[in-house]
Amino acid sequence: MTDHLGELRRSYDVGTLEEADLDDDPIRQFERWFEDARQSGEDEPNAMTLATVDADGAPDARVVLLKGLDQDGFVWFSNYTSAKGLQLQHTRKAALVFRWHRLERQVRVRGLVSRTSPSESDEYFASRPLGSRIGAIVSPQSQVLADRVELERAAARLAIGPEPAIVRPPHWGGSRLAPVSLELWQGRANRLHDRFRYVRLAQAPGDTVATWRRERLAP
Ligand SMILES: Cc1cc2nc3c(=O)[nH]c(=O)nc-3n(C[C@H](O)[C@H](O)[C@H](O)COP(=O)(O)O)c2cc1C
Repeated sequence: MTDHLGELRRSYDVGTLEEADLDDDPIRQFERWFEDARQSGEDEPNAMTLATVDADGAPDARVVLLKGLDQDGFVWFSNYTSAKGLQLQHTRKAALVFRWHRLERQVRVRGLVSRTSPSESDEYFASRPLGSRIGAIVSPQSQVLADRVELERAAARLAIGPEPAIVRPPHWGGSRLAPVSLELWQGRANRLHDRFRYVRLAQAPGDTVATWRRERLAP
């Protein structure tokens, strides 16, 4: 079945990306592209691959959901004691990749990760459906389980217990990646794709607004 992988190819011709199309601010530019992806009917446009590095320098990656975005960065929620959580404790450097296939677009973001404030995590936790809150509490994410039963029992116990027991555990919360670079990729014919990268410039003391260099990259 995988014999024909070499023949699996498509031509990218949905759009183009020109310097003149770009906002000076990469977050605003991302928001524009995100809205395009949403409008295009992309399934889960907020799904992103989060790449981290473990203590041995080996990379790891998985999909998480973007749940917040502002000038401070890209936010997702997870378990701080999961594999990714421990990796991020070891090194705060991480990368995100969005792929919006209907628009033949990719966005890559690299940056430094920090935890959201406890109140930001509380607020998001409280907004989740009951089942998701229970799931976050009972799952020792990334640890080896003997079977599923134990997990389901713990979830069922909480579900019939008093509502006040369902509070955000301290090991679960938000993480925010503050971008140091952000790259937009638009597929083009003959693999001559358009790529533009924003690179954050060192901030002078007293500067409150980030400044960015922008450059076109070879496909
Ligand atoms: C579409 C999709 C969305 C996901 N969203 C999240 C998320 O927001 N947070 C999370 O912790 N895991 C999410 N996961 C599960 C992760 O991919 C991963 O299995 C989990 O976080 C454990 O990763 P780790 O062992 O590397 O820490 C999602 C998976 C998929 C496929």
